[in-house]
Amino acid sequence: MSRWQYSCEHTGPGTLAGRYMRQFWQPVHVLDKIPPGQARPLRIMGEEFTLYRGESGTPYLVDSHCAHRGVQLSVGRVDGEEIACLYHGWKYTGLGQCVEQPGELDEQFSSRVKIRGYPTRDYHGLVFAYLGKGDAPEFPIHQALEGEGIHEARSYERDCNLTNFLDNQLDEVHVGFTHPVGYARLPEIPKVRISRTKFAAVSHCSRPGRVDRISEFLMPNMLRFKSTTPYEGVNWADAVAWRVPKDDATTLSFTINRYVTTKEGEEAFLARQKRLRALPVPDVNAFAKRILAGELTFDQAMEEMGEHDPRYDVTLQDHLTMQGQMVVSNREAEVLGQADTGVVAVRDLWNEQLEDLDKYGEGRVWILPPPTVLTSGEDLQETG
Ligand code: FES
Ligand SMILES: [Fe+2]
Repeated sequence: MSRWQYSCEHTGPGTLAGRYMRQFWQPVHVLDKIPPGQARPLRIMGEEFTLYRGESGTPYLVDSHCAHRGVQLSVGRVDGEEIACLYHGWKYTGLGQCVEQPGELDEQFSSRVKIRGYPTRDYHGLVFAYLGKGDAPEFPIHQALEGEGIHEARSYERDCNLTNFLDNQLDEVHVGFTHPVGYARLPEIPKVRISRTKFAAVSHCSRPGRVDRISEFLMPNMLRFKSTTPYEGVNWADAVAWRVPKDDATTLSFTINRYVTTKEGEEAFLARQKRLRALPVPDVNAFAKRILAGELTFDQAMEEMGEHDPRYDVTLQDHLTMQGQMVVSNREAEVLGQADTGVVAVRDLWNEQLEDLDKYGEGRVWILPPPTVLTSGEDLQETG
């Protein structure tokens, strides 16, 4: 019998964990992956939506289908800040209010038609939306991402449940094994100490001869961390990552990095970023599936990928471990050790919060904990 009665395995509409997740602003897309004037279908926590950008560039999130006869709105046309259905031109505002029905004679009819529309916000290049009930809570600003630096928003998809992903957040022992080369230059097995507050768990990882690596998991699905990069002229990057279920079988990862560079390093860094962004994006999930099926080795995958942004190597390594646990890892069968203290802390946080929600319902106040001083674990000058 697992010690956790509650988990975030199911996040669809109406589920307990889904209700919990929907109390928070969640990232749903990278802003510049959708040009102004275009629309995309989205699936988030088992629900379908339409994300479109008005001609001003503002992102809007509305229902997936037209109220009239149910055509998928993402194939419609963006007109100014509104979106018109491709079938008969019913037009909606970004809050879902129907404002035009070209084939209808009753001019008042449209005012009685509304689809779902959600508050959205662009934060350092990620589109966030509030999908919960009632008014959206205040948008949490992460101090680590504010201030000078080069911001970068990224996302990828991993074919596993949110639980596999969150179990990994403070699993520091995996770093040296799963990522032996490249970005994670922390090969030693760390000693891990976890400290807990009501909404967060902080891992302090010591490795011989290095400063501690301190990272922080925040409920419900955020990881704050600091890292160095192999880029010349980059001092460090502050990062916040969000793991958002697409559904119970696939999880999206969104990250905002704030790179702090030297004055001289800035230009070279931007040029490198531009070059990496122009490279083809490998289908990392497909490579992971082939490796897990025994059809390919990791090294062969690297060769087949050709030149690519080396951060996808890390993504592929993590795909192999988290997808290799099956879609949902089997907690009943696992054998936890003392090194899993971070895994336990994250599960405990979820268990406590869901028990609270189950007993008392929505409305409990969540507060963004004050910034913790985070460190990358590498022996570098890290300030700010
Ligand atoms: S189905 Fe959308 S306008 Fe008719
Ligand atoms: Fe990893």
